[in-house]
Amino acid sequence: MMDMAALKLELVDMVSSAQDMTSLEAARVAALGKKGRITDLMKNLGTLSHEERRSAGAELNLLKDEISALIDRQSQQLRAQELQNRLANEEVDITLSPRPEVRGSIHPISQTMDELLTIFDGMGFTVAEGPDIEDDFHNFTALNFPIGHPAREMHDTFYLPDDERKDGEAQKKLLRTHTSTVQIRYMTTHKPPIKIVCMGRVYRADWDMTHTPVFHQIEGLVIDKTTSMAHLKGCLSQFVREYFEVDDLPVRFRPSFFPFTEPSAEMDIGCSRKGGELKIGAGDSWLEILGCGMVHPNVLRNCGLDPEEYQGFAFGMGIERLAMLKYGIPDLRTFFESDVRWLSHYGFDPLNRPNRATKI
Ligand code: PHE
Repeated sequence: MMDMAALKLELVDMVSSAQDMTSLEAARVAALGKKGRITDLMKNLGTLSHEERRSAGAELNLLKDEISALIDRQSQQLRAQELQNRLANEEVDITLSPRPEVRGSIHPISQTMDELLTIFDGMGFTVAEGPDIEDDFHNFTALNFPIGHPAREMHDTFYLPDDERKDGEAQKKLLRTHTSTVQIRYMTTHKPPIKIVCMGRVYRADWDMTHTPVFHQIEGLVIDKTTSMAHLKGCLSQFVREYFEVDDLPVRFRPSFFPFTEPSAEMDIGCSRKGGELKIGAGDSWLEILGCGMVHPNVLRNCGLDPEEYQGFAFGMGIERLAMLKYGIPDLRTFFESDVRWLSHYGFDPLNRPNRATKI
């Protein structure tokens, strides 16, 4: 019978020097496999005397268990090591853009909003905000749309499921169809003088070249004791001239109707359409740009303001329309398609300041 201690040393050395799973498996086969060292010796036990077989058998079994346990431990260590190596090698830097060829740019709507804010801020307006999910009161009733008034139908409103109310009356919830809701929210919580703009998403069930179910509006509201139609005209004329960067841009006001303003008007800016190309500035044609008017006395009353004491004007316009006109974007729907090719064509350099914008 061979020297067990020497065999043990040899096998332990073989197993612990295996540095990957393939050599560890080779070591296992060499020790415990069908033709392995320990297996061989076990086969030879039959040739020994009874006494020798007993003690050699016990020793061999012990050795077999020790080597098996050693192989298990070594295997666990190697697997852990392998995992560490893979984690180190396959490390992903998630702070890097996966598509470095696509440079981020500012969406024309964000750019236009920044430009609008820059102009109105310069005129002394502050920004007010309101929720997208509104109720019938703020979207219609307080704005002087009587129940059943046809103007409610014109808005193609998205209604949400009614809230259960304790008093049994259902509260109609809807997605605001215009930012005029913010006029109401602001007037019911602030005393004049008021000079605010509000920008944000509005929703109407409509979809074609010039309508999308969600779009953006900017709304302005000025309330004081002597604010007049002349202030409205001055403010909006100045605004379009700054926004379109045309100092002598002609404007005209046409009578119109909104339930919440009286008198109401639509404002047009001058343009030319020679050769089928739209050019903003003095020309032979006009382009409608916004709705406006003097806040209706009923609206002031609905917000707790005395129309004998206060008066003012409001205006509202579509931000996409402003962006389309200034930057020559032909189809409204493309604003919402998130096409990176469109964005890299119409987008803006993030490092440029509004109104000094250069296209990238
Ligand atoms: N809220 C109107 C609309 O969405 C726009 C508007 C606002 C008109 C304020 C007049 C005054 O069409």
